[in-house]
Amino acid sequence: MGKMNVDAGMPIALTLEPGSYYRCTCGKSANLPFCDESHGGDEHPLRFEVLERQRVYLCSCGKTGNAPYCDGSCGVALADRT
Ligand code: FES
Repeated sequence: MGKMNVDAGMPIALTLEPGSYYRCTCGKSANLPFCDESHGGDEHPLRFEVLERQRVYLCSCGKTGNAPYCDGSCGVALADRT
């Protein structure tokens, strides 16, 4: 997934309403974990959709193979990981 080390170490648990979201991948956002358009150059946020209100666990370590969601590669076990 690339650089996500700005708040690294643990998945970020959030309850999100349906809609489009943009996960910051550059670390410059003042609205982490979401993009606030502070990035520049070749850096781009990761867009993802939430179809229904749900609890999500966003990866913050950069090791996941299921970005933007935590897949347990960080070593944290979550029963209801998205
Ligand atoms: S926080 Fe990155 S895989 Fe869990």
